[in-house]
Parts: sequence; C-alpha cells; structure tokens
Amino acid sequence: MCGIVGYVGPNDTVEALLNGLRRLEYRGYDSAGIAVVDETGGISVRKRSGKLARLEELLAENPVSATGTGIGHTRWATHGGPTDVNAHPHLGDDGKLALIHNGIVENFAELRAELEADGVELVSETDTEVVAKLVGREVAETGDLETAFRNVVKRLHGTFTLLAMHRDEPGKVVSARHHSPLVVGLGDGENFLGSDVAAFVSATRRAVAVDEDNIAVITPEEVRITDFDGNPVEYSEFEVEWDADAADKGGWSSFMAKEINEQPEAVENTVRGRVVDGLVDIPELSALGDDRLREIDRIIIIACGTASYAGQVGSYAIEQWARIPVEVQLSHEFRYRDPVLSDRTMVISVSQSGETMDTLMAVKYAIERGVTTVSVCNTQSATIPRESDAAVYTHAGPEVAVASTKAFTAQITALYLIGLHLGRVRGTLSAEASAEAVQQFAELPEKMREAVATHEQIAQLAHWMADTRSVLFLGRHVGYPIALEGALKLKEIAYIHAEGFAAGELKHGPIALIDHGQPVFVLVPSPRTAPLMHSKVVSNIQEIRARGARVIAIVEVGDTAVLPYADDVIRLPLADALFEPLLEVVPLQWFALELSTAKGLDVDQPRNLAKSVTVE
Ligand code: G6P
Repeated sequence: MCGIVGYVGPNDTVEALLNGLRRLEYRGYDSAGIAVVDETGGISVRKRSGKLARLEELLAENPVSATGTGIGHTRWATHGGPTDVNAHPHLGDDGKLALIHNGIVENFAELRAELEADGVELVSETDTEVVAKLVGREVAETGDLETAFRNVVKRLHGTFTLLAMHRDEPGKVVSARHHSPLVVGLGDGENFLGSDVAAFVSATRRAVAVDEDNIAVITPEEVRITDFDGNPVEYSEFEVEWDADAADKGGWSSFMAKEINEQPEAVENTVRGRVVDGLVDIPELSALGDDRLREIDRIIIIACGTASYAGQVGSYAIEQWARIPVEVQLSHEFRYRDPVLSDRTMVISVSQSGETMDTLMAVKYAIERGVTTVSVCNTQSATIPRESDAAVYTHAGPEVAVASTKAFTAQITALYLIGLHLGRVRGTLSAEASAEAVQQFAELPEKMREAVATHEQIAQLAHWMADTRSVLFLGRHVGYPIALEGALKLKEIAYIHAEGFAAGELKHGPIALIDHGQPVFVLVPSPRTAPLMHSKVVSNIQEIRARGARVIAIVEVGDTAVLPYADDVIRLPLADALFEPLLEVVPLQWFALELSTAKGLDVDQPRNLAKSVTVE
C-alpha cells in the first residue's frame, strides 16, 4: 500500500518523480523519499517521515541535481514505524544501489539473520532494507544489476513490487512484481514505472500492465519484460482512458469534494454504451456466453470496505431482476470459511482499485475452484479484472480521496447493470421492469445533481454538530447498506464513532444507545413505492424520538409523514426504491466531509488509512 515511481529520461528527474508521487500519495502518506543518480555519478537520497510536502521542503533546503535516473516512494508503514530512517529508498552495495518496495516480504526475518551473520549492518527496521542489502551483495558478486535483482527476487516470499537502480548502470531502473501492482509508462525518449498510471499520466498515456511474476527493465529508449528467470515475455500496450486533468483537484477544496460532485457523470459514464435498443447489454458478460449465464445458480459478491456496501446494495437488485440467490461476503472472510462453490457459481468481485490484496486472493481462490469470476473495477488493467473471466469497468474516472464516493455509486450502477443483463438473458426480467430501470438510469444524473445540491444544508447541519461524539444511521432494505456506508464515511474521515443499523434491528439492542440528543440519521423509504417499509421506518423514528434522539430524516420530496418527529429533514428527488441509495448516500458523504473539515482534519488523507490496501 505504498506508491512507487521510476523515471529514466532527459527531463527534470526530481520533478518527474515528485509529479508521480503527488498523484500516488493517496496510496500512503506517512513518509516519502527519492533516490537519483546525481552529477557526481553517485546515488543521492532525500527522504523524510510525514507527507510529501515535508520531502519537498527537504529538497528545497537540500536540493539535488539528478541526471536522468531516479526512483521515488510514498510509504504506508508495515515493517518499522514511519520514521526518516525507515522511509524508502534504502541502500545496498555501499550506497551504490537504491531500492524501493511496495508490499511485505514475509521471510524477511530469516533473510535479515543471514545478512547479519554475514556481517552486514542494517540501519532500519524494514524488510525493504534487507532486500536492498541482498541485491547489493549480489551486484558486488555478479557485477550485473539485472542478474543480481533476479537472483534475489526469486528468494522472496510475500507480496512485492520492487524498483532498483545502481550508480554503475545509470539510465536504467529494474523492477519486479509479485502480487503488487506495476505499470510501465511509455514516453518519447523517456520511460516510467509506477504503482498505477497516475504516476506518469501527465507525461504519457501509453502504458503496459506488467504481469504477475515479471521483471521490467526500463532505459530511455527501451522497455524489456522477462519472467523471473530472464526469459523474454510478450506484452501489449494500452491507452490510459483519462488524462492528467482528471487526476487533479481542479479548484476544489479537496479531492473528496470534487469526487462527490462528479457522481452524476460517473454514473452516466458507467451506463454509457450499455443500453442498446432500450435493453441493458454488457458485451463483457455476453462474451462469457448466454448458456453459461443461464446456468448460474448462485452469486457471491466479494469486496472490502465501501465496495462491500456497494455489493450489498447490488445484491438486492440482482436478486430481484435475475432471480438468483445473491450473498455478499467480505473478501478476507471468504476463503477461510471453506465456501461451497460449484461451476454454476458466479463470484462478482467489487474493487475500485482492482488491487486490494484481500479481494485479489479471494478471486484467485474462486478461480482455482472453477467458478465464473466477474470483476467490477474502476482501474483499467488492474490485477483483479485481468485475472477474472470478465471485467465490467465502472467509468468513474480516477478516484484520489481515500474515502470512496464516486466509485461507490458507480459500483452500484455496474452491479445493477449486471442484474439487468442477467435478468434479460435468463428471461426473469419483465419488459416493463427493464424499461422502468433503464428510464430510472436516464433520469438519475439530473437527480444526483439535486442530491449533490444538498451540500449547503448539510454544511449548516455539520456546523452545529461539530462537537458530536457519536452518530447513528438507520436504514431498511437497500437503505441498510447506505446506513453502514454513512457510518463508515464518518469514521474514516471525521474520526467519529458511528454505527449503521438495520432499522428493524433497533429494538433488539441498539435502541439502548439512544440518549438525549443522540443524533440519528434515518433513511426513509418512499411512501409511494414502498409504503409498508415507509410506515415501519416512521414508527422507528417515533420510537427513537420518544427516547430523546435528534432525528435527521432523509426523505423523498413530498413525504410529510416524518415532519412531526424529525429535527431536520433532507429532501431528495423521487426515485424507484432500488434507485434511492444512489441519491441517499450523497448527503451522508457531504456530512462526513463537512464534519471532517469542521474538525480541521485532512479530508483526503485520513490518519492510518490508505486508499489501496495491497497487503493482507
Ligand atoms: C480501503 C479504502 C476504502 C475502500 C477499500 C476497498 O480500505 O480506504 O475506501 O473501500 O479499501 O478498496 P477497493 O479498491 O477494493 O474498492
């Protein structure tokens, strides 16, 4: 869960590295560093604990003139705390080699013991320095960086992307991947390496996704990819869909604010091209063959965090439209329960990054057991979609804020489209239901704009609640996962204790938490489309209000039933029951953002979290 960048070429090396790190900082931000081949022909390292801005300060105080070869790293600590010494890059071969790492080397203790027995002195607590010293020792013996690198990589267990450079081989960066992401950026007389395309998208949109257990060597003129034994491997290029502007803040106070605003387009772009003659048709699913889709008798959605709540929302729709039992499991729980799987099972993974290690491991487990795997992913050519039988991309554009927003609504959209596609192929979806859903999607972007426009009202609410220590969220049916997501957002970026409950569960325990002034957000289903659920939720509101709760009701416009019992009412446009979550979540996202801002916190980079968790 670190960000890595490598550069070889004629342009300003430090700037190229910093540029990449600025766009990768979401992956980790507890320390950052760079190493370059400097004017003297030696390796110069600048690294510091804290955010990237601290490294930039260091570079301003103590500049370095680089000559076209460099590597950079932004860290999320695993082995060893976030200190200056533990920050990457780490050195080997008497300071002639620099190396950076994303992942965890599981056999590092035995490798470290081997080095220590050999008299090698290690200055940090990291597994990365062990690798740097090992490669350094091999270079000293073999006189060749690539051979040395290959020899060491084959000895490592765990997960890693590694980048290394040596002062005796300037103009070259070697890299390897094993369960952690790595992409090459193909420039004109310059080449890049990165954890994802954001690392180089301001310079080039031509990219190559490096495959599992491959080594990529870049020089300004050449990219060579081999397996760990040095055998050449064929690779193909892809064009990055979005440009650098899409990954910039563009005048917004935070990436999260920008991304909340982008949701109408994210949803629209995810639907685009997938409705043909009024029917949902996803070519990636069609490629699996309709017979195979008709045989599916069970769907398991696997995901973590926000993506799992998108999965929960999606499960209601897929079940309703495709009439297949759907369950949602957390990726990290999935394989340990020895799940009952068959060749008629479909596993749908949901992951914004497509690199979440827990989800990747669950997908691999499913593949080994012969199930059909479908990936819902927002990142082109990420590992999970490439491993899966079919990839249904969300087209939300790059999401940078750690707290996921537009990827979430785009994931729900993609899952709904999958439900509609399966329903059509399996003949379980009536023409009316299909037409109605397609119509709902057509109207959704405009309605989401109205949901986004609740910002001002929510900002005022948050202003009054800045000292709140605990917030509860209640929802029913598809509103339940939205309650969970509302609570997660608040925990993630405002560090406030928050919990989401199924409204019906209230009387089985959570109601004991209700005390005078306890804020409770209630997601109220539509009285038009879900009158039974509506009346039950209104009863729930009365119960908590009678016990002193401060009720913030999120209702559809025109619903007056809650007015006597609610302290605040947030009104959203009319939508069919299944489409309400896509609107309801928006004010909850704003609420978390505004409370985080009111507390003076960093909205985009909350403490202890990383956007992409690439360790198990
Ligand atoms: C991390 C992020 C969450 C995200 C989760 C799953 O925990 O902080 O925002 O929901 O990972 O990420 P994925 O990339 O798999 O959707």
